[in-house]
Amino acid sequence: MPSPSTSAPGVRQADFVFRCIACGSISDSASQDFRCAQCHDLLEITYPRWKQDRPNAEQLKSIWRDRRLSARATDLSGVWRFRDLVPGLDDGEAAITLREGNTPLYELTRCGLDDGEAAITLREGNTPLYELTRCARITGVPRLFAKHQGMNPTGSFKDTGMTVAATFAQRAGFRWVACASTGNTSASMAAYAARGGLRSLVLVPEGKISWSKLSQALDYGAVTCQLRTDFDGCLRLLQELVLRAPVYQLNSINPFRLEGQKTVALELLEQLEWQPPDHIIVPGGNLGNSSAVGKALLEMRELGLIAKVPRLSVIQAEGANALVRTLREAGGKRLISVQAETRATAIRIGNPASWKKAAHVLEATGGACEQVSEIEIAQAKAEIGAEGIGCEPASAVTLAGLKKLVKQKFVKPEETVVLVLTGNLLKDPDFTIEFHRGELFAESDAKNAALNALRRPPIVLDATLDAVMRTLEQAEKS
Ligand code: F0G
Repeated sequence: MPSPSTSAPGVRQADFVFRCIACGSISDSASQDFRCAQCHDLLEITYPRWKQDRPNAEQLKSIWRDRRLSARATDLSGVWRFRDLVPGLDDGEAAITLREGNTPLYELTRCGLDDGEAAITLREGNTPLYELTRCARITGVPRLFAKHQGMNPTGSFKDTGMTVAATFAQRAGFRWVACASTGNTSASMAAYAARGGLRSLVLVPEGKISWSKLSQALDYGAVTCQLRTDFDGCLRLLQELVLRAPVYQLNSINPFRLEGQKTVALELLEQLEWQPPDHIIVPGGNLGNSSAVGKALLEMRELGLIAKVPRLSVIQAEGANALVRTLREAGGKRLISVQAETRATAIRIGNPASWKKAAHVLEATGGACEQVSEIEIAQAKAEIGAEGIGCEPASAVTLAGLKKLVKQKFVKPEETVVLVLTGNLLKDPDFTIEFHRGELFAESDAKNAALNALRRPPIVLDATLDAVMRTLEQAEKS
């Protein structure tokens, strides 16, 4: 059995030792229980040579500041950036990192109220770009990335647009902001309104948004109305409301939202050192996001920031496929609305407001529009999760769609592909738990071998060593 020792290959042996907090005895390896071999008390890690070996305080501060500008994986991590004070590896690149750390420090006063210049911001954007190595093998596209917008302050891409639109609402002197939502817009709007000292009104379809998203709106202080209709019904009502009441509407119909949402494309290209990928794939719901990303790509080409525009493709759920049908059956000339139904509730939208904008950017960038089934969504979501990344169901349509686009040879194996993951895994825990317990689909679908191989249901056991050992052994064999 491997021992948690400093003499493991790749670990900088000389850097640190274990010291007992009680008897002070020092050793350069520790037993499996991390207790002192002499007195059994707890161990801590210390660095005997650190005064003589290390740069001085001023040098350390300057090293850490410089690393902020670096693109190395270990410098992008808010933990490994400070690796001078953490047990070291010979090869810093080998750290297992998800870009942890780098968390905001908020002042707990309502910002933006007194200072006319101040934008309402929660430190949105700056989201990680991950290489998806397992999903690359599954799809046969080795250069596959995920731009994880679920790492924004309220857990979805909405924050990038909301900071801009909420700031303009405040500037225009509105007291109230409002939106219709499948959940993420309302969570984001409520947070930004709270930060900017605005009141917020949320209209959501009753029973059709996840509890996590609903709980965010409540906690951030929105007046939250669960309407007995679907998202499209909520949006229709909001359109009438804003004509009657002095309420600033913060759906993606609001073009300030889309200007903020454009920045995901700028940030992505900067992360790729301005080498455009061949494909960017986004989920499609109300179609504001695809419109914003497409607009940014076209503007970047116009400004000479990139020479070639990536193809932007939009993926919808089969049960909420208004754009797919609009393009296939009406040649993109008129909207074909649908009665939307999907467990990817974020994109359960049948009458997308920005369909014309989306159709335009698809055409201008040469992108595709595809639909994926509920099972394909669940499978893709579990596959992304198995990379330690995780996203909500609506985001997973991008991987499911990529598989189809590869089959159709629209995406070629040698091309670079970026999936935009729009929301965090924690946004819809019910979906994830039902999936892993095998409760998500009807009996017949639960027999699907590909899905079963991905399922990791929780195991309820008696609290005995034997039971856990047996489970460990079984898991090792599977
Ligand atoms: N992914 C997630 C996680 C979303 O929340 C949404 C939209 C989309 C994708 C689709 O983006 O509408 O710009 O095409 N959610 C909206 C909401 C509708 O109210 O939160 P879109």
